[in-house]
Amino acid sequence: MRFTTLIPLLSLTPAVYSWGELGHRTVAYLASKHFTRDASELVNTLLANDQGWDISDGAIWADAIRHRNGYTHTGEWHYIDALDDPPNYCNVTYTRDCKSGPGCIVDAIANFTSRINNPHLDLVQQKEALMFIIHFIGDIHQPLHTEHLSRGGNGIKVCFDAHCGERENLHGVWDRAIPHKRRALSAAESDKVILKAAAAAWAEELYLREEKRAAQCDDVETAQMCALEWASEANAWVCGFVLEKGQAWLEGNDLGGEYFEGAGPIVDELVGKAGLRLGNWLNALAAERAAAETMLVQDGERSEV
Ligand code: ADE
Ligand code: ZN
Ligand code: ZN
Repeated sequence: MRFTTLIPLLSLTPAVYSWGELGHRTVAYLASKHFTRDASELVNTLLANDQGWDISDGAIWADAIRHRNGYTHTGEWHYIDALDDPPNYCNVTYTRDCKSGPGCIVDAIANFTSRINNPHLDLVQQKEALMFIIHFIGDIHQPLHTEHLSRGGNGIKVCFDAHCGERENLHGVWDRAIPHKRRALSAAESDKVILKAAAAAWAEELYLREEKRAAQCDDVETAQMCALEWASEANAWVCGFVLEKGQAWLEGNDLGGEYFEGAGPIVDELVGKAGLRLGNWLNALAAERAAAETMLVQDGERSEV
């Protein structure tokens, strides 16, 4: 009896784990604008399915499977809980913050980077590795995915445009409410076609606006170091803006006004960086894969002679 009343209640609770669909789809579309031919081919080959998927559908898969049997352990891979002290002091340290055992987003990025081209894995395993990478390189750019305080702000109740209370929290505001308002979508918009179109338009704007900056860290051989660097950069925003005014201020003011205005350009910058970095990352992995395939062909030809 207890369970039958609990289940419908639980299913009403929004899953707040990541940039929402809009952010992840935008990162994926932006990345694909940077793809080399090899990277497009790699993504098309591994993500190919019969349901008309595009890369942005692959980007949200990690959230879709988070509660499925056999995947519940993946929840911890979406973030690193930096044990810092915002707004006074922010930083991320691998040994302090990445829980050994369950792991964290930094070692998940390192692990799945090495799995994408691992010849001992089958295509389904490589495909999952690719979908995790596309998702996690997005998540690691969300400042609250690099912060332990109140489970990355999930426990900080706030108001956004007069929506207050149980279901609105600081984490969700950064995952969804701010990106949606920035892109003129209603907070509750969940229609896939509308979200895809909004993501494509946002990616196009970010791409056109992008100063041709370096991606900063694009060596897939040093994946853990790069992921830690990206996490540290996002985490700096926790002190620099997200929690700068302190928890009491955030709990006492509607975040849909001045706070939203300040957050918008930061979200643009972080989503933009995530897209560029993901694009370069997959270009590097595709080049590595193409080189390995060429070697295999040459070896085959040599042994035929
Ligand atoms: N759960 C615990 N900490 C979290 C974080 N920083 N981000 C998302 N979910 C979390
Ligand atoms: Zn996530
Ligand atoms: Zn999140």
